[in-house]
Amino acid sequence: MAAVLMGLGGYLPPKVVSNEDLSATLDTTDEWISTRTGIRQRHTVIDGLATGDLAVEAGAKALKSAGHSVIDAVVVATTSPDRLCPAVAPEVAERLGLGTVAAFDLTSACSGFVYGLATAAGLIASEAADTVLFIGAEAFTTLVNPADRTTSPIFGDGAGAVVLRRGEPEEPGALGPFDLGSDGSRADLLAIPAGGSRQRSANGGPGHDAVPTEDWYLRMMGRPLYQQAVERMTRSADTALKKAGWTVDDVDWFVGHQANVRIVRAVAEELAMPEERTAVNIDRVGNTLAASIPLLLNDLAADGALRPGARVLLSAFGAGLSWGSTVLEWPDLSVESVH
Ligand code: UT7
Repeated sequence: MAAVLMGLGGYLPPKVVSNEDLSATLDTTDEWISTRTGIRQRHTVIDGLATGDLAVEAGAKALKSAGHSVIDAVVVATTSPDRLCPAVAPEVAERLGLGTVAAFDLTSACSGFVYGLATAAGLIASEAADTVLFIGAEAFTTLVNPADRTTSPIFGDGAGAVVLRRGEPEEPGALGPFDLGSDGSRADLLAIPAGGSRQRSANGGPGHDAVPTEDWYLRMMGRPLYQQAVERMTRSADTALKKAGWTVDDVDWFVGHQANVRIVRAVAEELAMPEERTAVNIDRVGNTLAASIPLLLNDLAADGALRPGARVLLSAFGAGLSWGSTVLEWPDLSVESVH
């Protein structure tokens, strides 16, 4: 038995922020951002639009792509939920008209999509569900300090969704094997200190006073993170390939998490993956965390670059630290462009 991909959709909020727009208010330039990260623009939420809204849009597209409306479970991977409690997935399920199905969120930052695929495959393997709608959705720009030039240019908002069904391991679209890992000793490399129980229980109990403003925003140590990203993604991708009995030559598309085009290119180089088989869309969307891989798959499929039968390697790395990789043969899907 395997979890098989049967639908794919994505959504980007309408507001586009270019590097030029950012450099009007921030001590930065289009030249610095595009050469150091590969990013030229990103989409961002405004006017109260939230992660759940993006998830509903992407989820609807994935259901349409699958031609399927009976779903047993909804999982949302997000590190920028609408609120601390409750999870956004039950509301997304209800808004999509899916009824009182199993629904929960999972948090694994930029590796959320690969962790979520493995979780959804587990729901199918345990017979808790025959079909799963799994959505990676983020409004992470709301957690980034707009005045911080080291983090503010990097992130973008959006959502990508897949429908998975029970099937056979030999079928096109069957997911796996997976490689997943983490290193909690480096949690400080990418973190938002305030808002959780550690901050709330400090200084004698629940209190919201005297929390420095910057603690509500993302803190990132870019350099060490970059090194970890290249090392961990390379090793994880290699492990998934070995588990699948594939070599790099078997891979038609390397679809790596889009944190920085230099990271993607460095991992590809370590794996000996040619540039023309290494997928990139960070120039158009920035780093969208759990939405990054499905939005990239959506772009490749909608552009006709990803064809049925193509062998795909997915690999991601993010805060936690956490990382994961998996493989699949691309099925025949109908996918609409998000742009
Ligand atoms: O999704 C997983 C999580 N995130 C990541 O994996 C991110 C990994 N890290 C990176 O992608 C890169 O480290 C960054 C893009 C964040 C930064 O690139 P870098 O080449 O490592 O630059 P840096 O942080 O070493 O900074 C180099 C210089 C510094 O100036 P000095 O000290 O050399 O004078 C920075 O102050 O660039 C400066 N700088 C900027 N200049 C213009 C930093 N940000 C900017 C900016 N515009 N936006």
